[in-house]
Amino acid sequence: MKYLIGCDVGTSGTKTVLFDEGGKIISSAYRSYPLYQPETGWAEQDPDDWADAAFVTIAEAVAESGVDPSDVAGIGLSGQMHGLVMLDEKGKVLRKSIIWCDQRTQEECVSLTSLIGEDRLKRITGNPAITGFTAPKILWVQRHEPETWRKCAHILLPKDYVRFRLTDQLITDMADGSGMQLADIGERRYSKEILRALSIDENMVPVLKESASEGGRLTAEAAKKCGLRQGLPVAASAGDQAAAAIGNGVVREGLFSCNVGTSGVVFAHTDTPLCDPSGRVQTFCHAVPGKWHVMGVTQGAGLSMKWFKDNFYAEEAARNPKVYKVIDDGAATVSKAGAHGLFYLPYLMGERTPHLDPKAKGVFFGITPSHKREDFARAVMEGVGYSLLDCLNVISELGGRPDEIRLCGGGTNSALWRRMLTDIFGCECVTTNSTEAGALGAAILAGVASGTYSDVNSACERMIRVTERYTPDERNAEIYAERYPVYRGLYAALKDSFAAAENFYR
Ligand code: XUL
Repeated sequence: MKYLIGCDVGTSGTKTVLFDEGGKIISSAYRSYPLYQPETGWAEQDPDDWADAAFVTIAEAVAESGVDPSDVAGIGLSGQMHGLVMLDEKGKVLRKSIIWCDQRTQEECVSLTSLIGEDRLKRITGNPAITGFTAPKILWVQRHEPETWRKCAHILLPKDYVRFRLTDQLITDMADGSGMQLADIGERRYSKEILRALSIDENMVPVLKESASEGGRLTAEAAKKCGLRQGLPVAASAGDQAAAAIGNGVVREGLFSCNVGTSGVVFAHTDTPLCDPSGRVQTFCHAVPGKWHVMGVTQGAGLSMKWFKDNFYAEEAARNPKVYKVIDDGAATVSKAGAHGLFYLPYLMGERTPHLDPKAKGVFFGITPSHKREDFARAVMEGVGYSLLDCLNVISELGGRPDEIRLCGGGTNSALWRRMLTDIFGCECVTTNSTEAGALGAAILAGVASGTYSDVNSACERMIRVTERYTPDERNAEIYAERYPVYRGLYAALKDSFAAAENFYR
């Protein structure tokens, strides 16, 4: 029996899972790390926290599994996307990473758009300039920290810094690499035009490889730290959304996933690039070689729930590790769908789909004296659901038709949220046997890269199956359908106020 390791470098922490070649979880380990928010809308993390967490969790998962390390065939990585990691010529980290949800680059997005031209930027990269993406962050450092830029010899994405520490190689994959906004996604290579316009030497960016190919081998030092053998293959791997899609078997047209993690994502596999001319959803290369995906992103999905827990349930959180269950049970006591007229807009970190507005903020609307904490909990879950419906609707408008929506991510551990999403979407949703989709997707890529599986699709077919089907409750679906236009109207009514209030947060 062979074994594969998937290491998921997330925003809250890193989780490493050791699977057998049938996809069964043998062992796992987790380490959290801090998120630094020095100013409103900024978000940074220390790349060495990611690397330390990867080393520790890989070592723990291997030790706990009792598996003979020589039976481990490969490691795959799944990583939070778009973060900017900068290294000097000796490979030393130059500053904290500016991560995916950071919103400081509004001016740089305007510059990037005028440097390349709006239509051309969308045609090459599949997307308009977006504050969270890597390219505007590079412009920000060039402008605001010229000394750091002068010393910068290498640009990497979060999981690729972990790879660098594991293998000494400067490599990224197509799926995560296309989220840098430096690549021509149709051609699956860097755009010389964009690199030139941003004064980025081609030697500074990591080598682009298909996700299921090899992306380095464990160095002697890394192998020792991990308790594994030197030379073990590490897959080129994938950004977290593409990796989770693989881990859910979303590897053919018609299959969609809805991933409720820190961010929330509705993701669809496409055989050719499907782009939104108005830039409401994002189009990237998929981790399935030669394929693409389109996705709508809710910036603050699980993030909203975490904020709600930290501020509305702080006491319970301090004494009860299962506090999310307490919140969930509370929300379930609200007698009707619709949280008694309370609405929540999940724009804590601006929004991407469908508004692409870094100035948007979170909102509770419709509070009355009869609302209780439980109504607020329910409104947060429903608000995230409406936002994910926005994502689904844009993809459908572009012609994406779901045969099946696969629910995944930490948020969907809640049965209430699973049912709510089904009722809000108004169509059947399913869950799969894959409980750690990101890590499993990464492990599958490692399996293909190491020759354990012949290709991604057959590995998914063999391992991933539907476990439960949810059909919408007619009455709830009607309630949500009636309320959704009110939810939609709130952003329209508040858009100018968000912009006018922007300076109040400084
Ligand atoms: C995707 C995105 C997030 C992050 C963090 O474009 O920004 O999903 O990858 O999960």
